[in-house]
Amino acid sequence: MRLCEPDDMKPGEARRFDVDGEPVCLVRIEDRFHAIGDTCSHADFSLSEGEVDEGECTIECWKHGSAFNLLTGEPESLPATRPVPVYPVRIEDDGVHVEVRS
Ligand code: FES
Repeated sequence: MRLCEPDDMKPGEARRFDVDGEPVCLVRIEDRFHAIGDTCSHADFSLSEGEVDEGECTIECWKHGSAFNLLTGEPESLPATRPVPVYPVRIEDDGVHVEVRS
């Protein structure tokens, strides 16, 4: 599903999209894009409202501070202990695409 143009988002920005009914957090790191499940695995809060660390390639849940790796979906700090899903991102001529089902 097409989400946006690459230039619609600034480096270090995170944005929530609904992709086929799934909440997805799309993050731009430099010129790369990563997509993970938007709902924190610790409780029902939106990861896209958290802070992106471009150097570490993580996003920090704003509620209790767990940092999730954007490549693996794994939490790198407590209190979250379970990963969030990671979704493939494709950059096509018409924009940034993410699929939640293969
Ligand atoms: S809700 Fe995300 S760390 Fe608690």
